[in-house]
Amino acid sequence: MADRIRRVAVLASGTGSNFRALVENDTSPGEVVLLLSDRNDAGALSIARELGIPHHVLDPGKYRTRFGIAEEEQWAEFLRDQKIDLVCLAGFMRILKGPLIEEFSGRLMNIHPSLLPAFPGLDGQGQAFTYGVKVAGCTVHYVDRGTDTGPVILQKAVPVLPDDTRDTLAARILKKEHAIFSRAVSLHCAGRLRVSGRRVYITPDTQ
Ligand code: GRF
Repeated sequence: MADRIRRVAVLASGTGSNFRALVENDTSPGEVVLLLSDRNDAGALSIARELGIPHHVLDPGKYRTRFGIAEEEQWAEFLRDQKIDLVCLAGFMRILKGPLIEEFSGRLMNIHPSLLPAFPGLDGQGQAFTYGVKVAGCTVHYVDRGTDTGPVILQKAVPVLPDDTRDTLAARILKKEHAIFSRAVSLHCAGRLRVSGRRVYITPDTQ
C-alpha cells in the first residue's frame, strides 16, 4: 500500500504557508502535485511558481464564501481527472456544499487553527485569544458536511502566554499547523488512518 506515490492536491485561498509546508516537509508516500485556488491574488500561487508545483485558478462561482454547485462539480471533476488521491484544504476560505465532499469522501482534510470542537469557523485563534483560554492549538480533520465538524485526525496544543497578542499566538499555532498537517497527510497516504464513527485510529507502522 505504501509503495506507490499518493497524489495530493492542495486548495488554498491565502498566504499559503501550509501549502509550502506540505510541499517541503516529508509527507511520503504522499506528494503534492497540484495547487488549486479560487483567488488569482493568493500568495499560495507565488509559492507554487517558486516551487514548480502545477497550479490553477478555477472559477468558484458568483458567491463570496461558498461554491456555486455547478462550479464545485467542475472542481471535483478536475481533481478526478488529475487522479488525485487526497485533497487538502489549507486556508481555503470557501464552504463546500456537496460535490467535492462526495467525490473525496474520506480523502478530504482540513487544517483549523483551534482545538476543535472549540472555536470553529473564522479566526479560530482570535476566538480562543478573546475567550481567554490558557491552551489554544490546532486540528487536522476529515471534512464532512458541517463547518469544522469532521472526525479529528491530529491535534496539537499551544499554551497561551501572558504577553501574547492574537498575532503572536497565531504565529506559534501556525508552526504547529505545518507539522501536524504534514504528518496527517503522510499517515493517510500510508494507509495508516482508520475512521470508525467519529474516531480516527492510527495503525502501527508495519514498514
Ligand atoms: C491557517 O491558520 C489555517 O489554519 C486557516 O487559515 C490559515 C491559512 O494560513 N484555515 P496559510 O495560508 O496556510 O499561511
